[in-house]
Amino acid sequence: MKNAFLNEFETKKALSEFIMQADKLSMDVKCAEFETAFALKQGRKEAVLFNSGGSANLCMLQALKNLGKLNDGDNIGFSALTWSTNTMPIIQMNMNPIAIDCEPDTLNVMSWNLLERLNTTSLKALFLTNVLGFTGDLEEIKRICDERKIILIEDNCESLGTVLPAGKAGNFSIGSSFSFFVAHHMSTIEGGMVCTDDEEFAEMLRISRANGWDRNLSAKQQVKWRKKFDINSEFDAKYTFYDLGFNFRPTEITGFLGLYQLQFLDSNINTRESNYLKLEAIIKENDDLLNLKHDHISVLSTFAFPVVCKTSELREKYLAQFSGAGIEIRPMIAGNMQNQPFYKKYAKDIFELPGSDFLHHNGFYCGNYPELTEKDLQTISSCLYKY
Ligand SMILES: Cc1ncc(COP(=O)(O)O)c(C=O)c1O
Repeated sequence: MKNAFLNEFETKKALSEFIMQADKLSMDVKCAEFETAFALKQGRKEAVLFNSGGSANLCMLQALKNLGKLNDGDNIGFSALTWSTNTMPIIQMNMNPIAIDCEPDTLNVMSWNLLERLNTTSLKALFLTNVLGFTGDLEEIKRICDERKIILIEDNCESLGTVLPAGKAGNFSIGSSFSFFVAHHMSTIEGGMVCTDDEEFAEMLRISRANGWDRNLSAKQQVKWRKKFDINSEFDAKYTFYDLGFNFRPTEITGFLGLYQLQFLDSNINTRESNYLKLEAIIKENDDLLNLKHDHISVLSTFAFPVVCKTSELREKYLAQFSGAGIEIRPMIAGNMQNQPFYKKYAKDIFELPGSDFLHHNGFYCGNYPELTEKDLQTISSCLYKY
């Protein structure tokens, strides 16, 4: 990403003016306004703003533990192709990570990958990642989870704006996380969100986000907690901590930027999708490269341009073409998470993951963002031809 923000200059100017006139910069009304606007945009009842997507992930698991829905030692499934701070929270929360394979041509866990794991291993929850703007067959995955009483959680940090016929990515689960780090679909510099339709979960997220206290709850919710623990004065309530939490609060800068960037989100998603489709047309002509499937997705809000080569030797060739053209490239997120040093140190169950291994060795991506010019797209295209 070239810039920190969509409409960089205008956003920085508005931010400077906001900072100069704001009375308070710690979490306050702008954060609440952004939560309301984002929940509306995503079509969920509640949105809870965080200081990052990674802390949103950790807090979702803490809140589910506080509510007694998850416990120490529970098996938690996760997409083997994901980001570190999707998987690390499972370990940090003293639960057992269970990797589920991802399909090379959708980049995601498909229902059959889930069923294969469930043949041998039971799961209490599935913390699914919607990878790089693509998704699996979420409707079927949700059906399987509902049927087997597996709590479905979505890490939607890479897929804001992706829509399936059955609904938006991020709306298939009890809660879904979003990241607003630079280069995501919209940026608040650092920032994250959890969306949910479950009011009890949202309430616990607000407790866990800020020290374990009740200050960010509604008056009605505060009365409930204070009554339950016999807290009879405002003085005592100020420093009463009801359950385990962190300090993962955003600032008013996060709230302001979120609201401001939200107005440019739809056009950014459209540009990302049309950029992707242009490059996809070239990939389709090249039999060195895998065609990624997305016919189950109605709006493809890609995070990046993923490229999957048919062999690792071919990847070397295309990596050289991209580097030679001066295009910054990245591995296919964390690849097969089981290969990461931290995973080997802490996880006890290791599985065969042929799809994720394939992506680990044969995949890479480069950026897709709205400032890409026709010339930039041509440069990327020129690296995708089979010479
Ligand atoms: C799938 C996924 N989950 C979580 C995160 C963490 O988000 P953040 O960088 O805002 O902590 C990312 C970051 O890119 C991500 O891609």
